[in-house]
Amino acid sequence: MKNLSSFVQVQESLREITANHPLWNHEFLNRCRTRQLALQEVQLLAIQMYKFSKEFSRILASILSCCQDESVQLAILENLFDEMGRGDLTQSHPELFRHFTRALGIDDNILAIQAPNLETEALINTYLRIPHQYGFLAALGAVCYASEGIVSALYIQLYQGIIGAAPLPKESLVFFEVHIHLDDSHAAKLAALIEARVTTVEELENIKLAVLEAMNARVQFFNGIERQIIEYQVNANPFNLLKV
Ligand SMILES: [Fe+2]
Repeated sequence: MKNLSSFVQVQESLREITANHPLWNHEFLNRCRTRQLALQEVQLLAIQMYKFSKEFSRILASILSCCQDESVQLAILENLFDEMGRGDLTQSHPELFRHFTRALGIDDNILAIQAPNLETEALINTYLRIPHQYGFLAALGAVCYASEGIVSALYIQLYQGIIGAAPLPKESLVFFEVHIHLDDSHAAKLAALIEARVTTVEELENIKLAVLEAMNARVQFFNGIERQIIEYQVNANPFNLLKV
């Protein structure tokens, strides 16, 4: 096996994958940045984001199930504990997200019965599959670089689209504010753990594949939202997509 000379190269190569990825030129994100979203489009986005983000605990658990390294297990558990409101379910991240959907006029029961798009399901399944296919280190890489590492940049753009469509109370947007701050620190901790453990080019290649697959699946996720928006526009009753 070949050895890696420097982890700086590893970090740079992983950050390059996310920084130069086509995700950032996605038409949906362009429309968010320029505040062109309508309220109904934000509702569709919110439902699909909820379907993905509420699975994050299972995604972390899936990585944990493939990991025998105690220090990494602890880091994943801390991340999971944050996800579950540090023991207070009124502060769990799915509950913080429901503050947002309620402010958009989406009832919890309606939210619960909405099906994820095929593309949203594919994004969830990509993250659930990666630890089993590429190992826990690569899965941590996907969470670190393609999820928590991009949340700040991604959510700031989505946030522009959301506040451009609806004047929502500040407390309904707490999910975004929490993640813009919390995920940067999660990503930094995971990067340090990965840095200490990647020793071979083969391991780095697996992390790169995992990061790229997660980024590609994220593009598909936004393609799914765009597809649903088009379906929504051609539908005679615009509320059909939000009702039972
Ligand atoms: Fe979260």
